[in-house]
Amino acid sequence: MELNIQRPRRNRKNETIRNLIQENWLSTNDFIYPLFLIEGKNKKTEVASMPNIYRYSADLILKEIEACVKLGINSFCLFPSINDKLKNKTASEALNKNGLYLKTISLIKKYYPNVVLMTDVAMDPYSSDGHDGLVKNNEILNDETLDILCKMALAQAYAGADIIGPSDMMDGRVGSIRNILDKNKFTNVSIMSYTAKYASAFYGPFRDALDSAPKFGDKKTYQMNPANVTEAILEADLDTIEGADFLMIKPALSYLDVIKTLKDNFTLPIAAYNVSGEYAMVKAAAAKRWIDGDKVRDEILLSIKRAGASVILTYFAKEFAIANKK
Ligand code: PBG
Repeated sequence: MELNIQRPRRNRKNETIRNLIQENWLSTNDFIYPLFLIEGKNKKTEVASMPNIYRYSADLILKEIEACVKLGINSFCLFPSINDKLKNKTASEALNKNGLYLKTISLIKKYYPNVVLMTDVAMDPYSSDGHDGLVKNNEILNDETLDILCKMALAQAYAGADIIGPSDMMDGRVGSIRNILDKNKFTNVSIMSYTAKYASAFYGPFRDALDSAPKFGDKKTYQMNPANVTEAILEADLDTIEGADFLMIKPALSYLDVIKTLKDNFTLPIAAYNVSGEYAMVKAAAAKRWIDGDKVRDEILLSIKRAGASVILTYFAKEFAIANKK
């Protein structure tokens, strides 16, 4: 054989050819932008461990959404920061129709009916125990929690949610939520299951943002062991049977193999959550000028897409949109 007949470098010789053979592209259509909500008016407070990410009062959330829509971001995921005084063991504030969260969901859908709004179904933002489920004798209860989660999901659907995101890793929640939604004629409301959510240290900055860290213990009896991937297939099997519309993997970056495994074995769309700690690491290193934050951001997002996620929940969404504005 002639030496060097095959020269892959020919396909890299200029940007146009590189673009022709590029296998994956990022677009603002890929992103869901998580937003943090607080009480009050005209209030905006930065999350200390997440530079450039803020908790907004409802009026400012509307403005933030407007700015993002102009940049081509049309999907959002809303998380509430609840006043400590309103937290209790049963997370009852989650069902308060006049409470911060449900009111703001309605408000967003009133002003931006075309925006896709994903809402969060888990007890932790409202729980005095800081856990995702009901706690009894230091145990996180599964079936007893499902009733509250179903009521939350239904209340959010009434308020206008487009996608329900059960973020707790309880067993049977997708089926239970699908059931109550359908019984109440919300057959068009989707469920994005947190299918493979790992018991991860990368959630730290998020828990700072919402002041929602567990008051005792950890989340290892419900979130998955970072060592496992076959177990993610079991979870994905169950979510598929129970009626999920999307399968999500969380965090993203340390779990690219899990994204790829679910992509290769399931037909439902795959989502990945590029979580708070992954964002914070990039920001911290970039602030020290140890890395080029913009380039690392784009490389990370692309790697998540290449692994198989068609939907990426990321705090970088707006920044990416600004940086790539045509
Ligand atoms: C809890 C929840 C968490 C995140 C989203 N929903 C944290 C946790 O499980 O303690 C983390 C998101 C992030 O870190 O960006 N239901």
